[in-house]
This record gives sequence, C-alpha cells and structure tokens, in this order.
Amino acid sequence: MHTPQTLIENTRAYVEAELAGDGSGHDWWHIHRVWKMALRIAEAEGADRTVVELAALLHDIADWKFHDGDEAKGAAKVRAFLDSQDVDAATAAHVLEIIAGLSYKGAGIATPMRTLEGRVVQDADRLDAIGAQGIARAFAYGGAKNRLIYHPDEPPVMHGDFESYKNSRGHSINHFYEKLLLLKDRMNTPAAKAVALERHRFMEQFLERFFGEWDGKI
Ligand code: ADP
Ligand code: NI
Repeated sequence: MHTPQTLIENTRAYVEAELAGDGSGHDWWHIHRVWKMALRIAEAEGADRTVVELAALLHDIADWKFHDGDEAKGAAKVRAFLDSQDVDAATAAHVLEIIAGLSYKGAGIATPMRTLEGRVVQDADRLDAIGAQGIARAFAYGGAKNRLIYHPDEPPVMHGDFESYKNSRGHSINHFYEKLLLLKDRMNTPAAKAVALERHRFMEQFLERFFGEWDGKI
C-alpha cells in the first residue's frame, strides 16, 4: 500500500480524469465538494480519514458511466482501481460497502449505513444535494434530462419504492419535495445536521421567492 498521501493523490487524479466532462451534476467538482465536506465531518466525528477520503472520491464512479443500472460493473471498476493501488482487503471492502449503500432511493425508503465512515460520506454527499449547490444541481440535472423547471398541475409524489423513484419524470421543483427538503431529517451526524439546517432554510427561502415570482407577486 502507498503512503496515505500518495494513495489519495492517485485517487484524486483517477477520479478527476474519469468524471471530466459530465454535465448531469456528477462532475469532478461535485466530488471535490463532497471530499472536502466529508473530511470536515470526519474530523468532527473522529472517523477514519483514509476510508472516508477514498469512499468520497470514488462514490460516483460506480454510478456515472453505467446508468443502465448495472451496479456490479461500477463496483468492479472501483475494486480494480483499489487493487491497482494495493489497498488492503479490509479497507477496499469497507470502501465498496460504503459506495454501494450511499444513494437516496425515495421518500419512503431508509438507507442506513453500518459504519461511522459510511455515515460521514453519506452525509457529505447529501449536503451537496441541498442549499445553493443543491439548487444548482437540481436544475442542471433536470436540464440534462430535458425536464421542465416547474409545472403547476403536477404535484410531487412521495415514492414508496426505488423503482418508481428512479423512473419518475417529474419537473425539477417536485424534486425539492420528493428529496431535497427531506434530507435535513436524514443526516446521520450532528456536524452534518448543523450544516443541513442552514442549507435547508436557504432552499425554503428560494422556493418562497420562486412561487412568488411565478405568480408575478414579487
Ligand atoms: P445520489 O448522489 O443521492 O445518488 P442522484 O445521483 O440521484 O443522487 O442525483 C444527483 C444530483 O441530481 C443530486 O443533486 C440530485 O438531487 C439531483 N437530482 C436527482 N434526480 C433529480 C430529479 N428528478 N430532478 C432534479 N434533480 C435531480
Ligand atoms: Ni454524489
């Protein structure tokens, strides 16, 4: 195994090259923000730094290229990279477990993480889905998928299973009600909860203005 510093630098370079050019909100700078936030939370919570950094850096490699839903292929890619860096088996297994469990799957579906490191990385990823970053990403994602910004006749749906959440084609404002406004109550760690509260308030203010402007009232 390399020194932690070399390992993290190699991982950063690998992920940056892999994700360059993605326009759906999973670009390198999403990873960069999650990585920095995960380190901040890891420090506050006393989590293992190397595991947290590796999982944060690699968490969307599995997702990004294999949108046809073949999660096994994405995981194999991450495993091959970790092997190429001689990462020990226990660390690699931990990182892969975190990545597999990370994603939001719908309003009614719990996604618990077994370890502190998993809880930290999940919090960091979710924090990047809310606040100003989250607003920007929601509309970037909606645009990439050809979705409307908003449609007044289409109310949000509280998805009870992952399939229906995944297949939903709603406008981007619905996404706030189906996911983004629910995230503050789903944070695992106290450090992330504090950040989430502030970002949540900002989204509420944004929505209030959005609807006020929609109706030409403000
Ligand atoms: P996760 O990292 O939890 O798996 P996704 O890959 O589903 O998140 O989403 C990536 C980004 O795109 C997030 O900021 C998310 O909120 C946003 N997003 C996902 N689905 C939608 C949607 N239907 N409308 C608008 N934004 C979305
Ligand atoms: Ni992510």
